[in-house]
Amino acid sequence: MKAILVTDQAAGTAGMKLMERPEPKAAINDVIVRVHASGFVPTELTWPSTWADRLGRDRTPSIPGHELAGVVTALGYGTTGLSVGQRVFGLADWYRDGTLAEYLAIEARNLAPLPGDVDFTVGASLPISGLTAWQGLFDHGRLRAGQSVLVHGAAGAVGSAVAQLAREFGAYVIGTGRTADSQKARDFGAHEFVDLGKDTLEDVGPVDLVFDLIGGDIGKRSARLVRAGGTLVSIVGPAEARPIDGLAVDFVVEADRAQLGEIVQRVRDGRLRTNIGTVATLDDAVAAFNPTERHTGKTIIRVRP
Ligand SMILES: NC(=O)c1ccc[n+]([C@@H]2O[C@H](COP(=O)([O-])OP(=O)(O)OC[C@H]3O[C@@H](n4cnc5c(N)ncnc54)[C@H](OP(=O)(O)O)[C@@H]3O)[C@@H](O)[C@H]2O)c1
Repeated sequence: MKAILVTDQAAGTAGMKLMERPEPKAAINDVIVRVHASGFVPTELTWPSTWADRLGRDRTPSIPGHELAGVVTALGYGTTGLSVGQRVFGLADWYRDGTLAEYLAIEARNLAPLPGDVDFTVGASLPISGLTAWQGLFDHGRLRAGQSVLVHGAAGAVGSAVAQLAREFGAYVIGTGRTADSQKARDFGAHEFVDLGKDTLEDVGPVDLVFDLIGGDIGKRSARLVRAGGTLVSIVGPAEARPIDGLAVDFVVEADRAQLGEIVQRVRDGRLRTNIGTVATLDDAVAAFNPTERHTGKTIIRVRP
């Protein structure tokens, strides 16, 4: 099969290569998926799981990409809940070969059915951004209607999902980002926009929840904006500063079939819009992941036409 491979951490996305690999085999409780579309978060090339297995042993060359939509072609020993021929989408294990390939071996529990009226390209754009937004707001942030949410990078892949879900659940949403992203953030549900290059973040009053996907100085300053009893949720590692009288939570997104179902239902009925920027073929994937100018929205690789 064709797959994108990485062997050199220092090379980043420039080190990606399209090569031939053996097709994967299904282990216990796995399925084999014929990948139709695949999503990729560039920062995953900095995560240890791309380079080493759970015992810390080198696992290169590895296949990156952890979001997929496709069709089940085989079941592993003892696998239940999915069947051959079923359309699926989901989030692949960080420590296994990923989704930038024609076939993938994945535990069935990491997948959910993809309804027939949802395109594979859309399906592949949802797992990481949708689940991260859902888990950050509801599982970790315990968002309630009427609360206020400050979401950084609100025009980005995760931020746009956070803004939409928070607004749907009755929150007041303040988005942040670059000057060029103001309208896009509002289109995705932000009531207000803070231009991090021009505006003063501290002018935002106290908020119940900060959703931080930038970290560093922005993360530290955001901790001070959390009102008593509120929460700072970080998806870029442990917060460097904690709210004075609130919680700080950091987490890595997990696969969840029920939540994937909630997310895709919202896409079908129009409550949630995806944020896809570029769509490229597997042959053009390396170029798509090494753009020469700034692009916004998720890059999705359409592995099969
Ligand atoms: N823990 C987890 O489970 C988890 C899950 C998903 C993602 N993540 C992490 O979350 C981060 C965001 O992911 P994403 O897929 O949403 O990325 P993305 O689509 O690139 O969105 C990030 C947005 O924030 C903006 N931004 C970043 N730094 C900024 C700054 N200093 N000032 C103003 N705007 C800034 C970006 O603008 P530019 O494009 O111009 O920089 C972009 O619009 C990544 O680091 C990713 O690794 C973690």
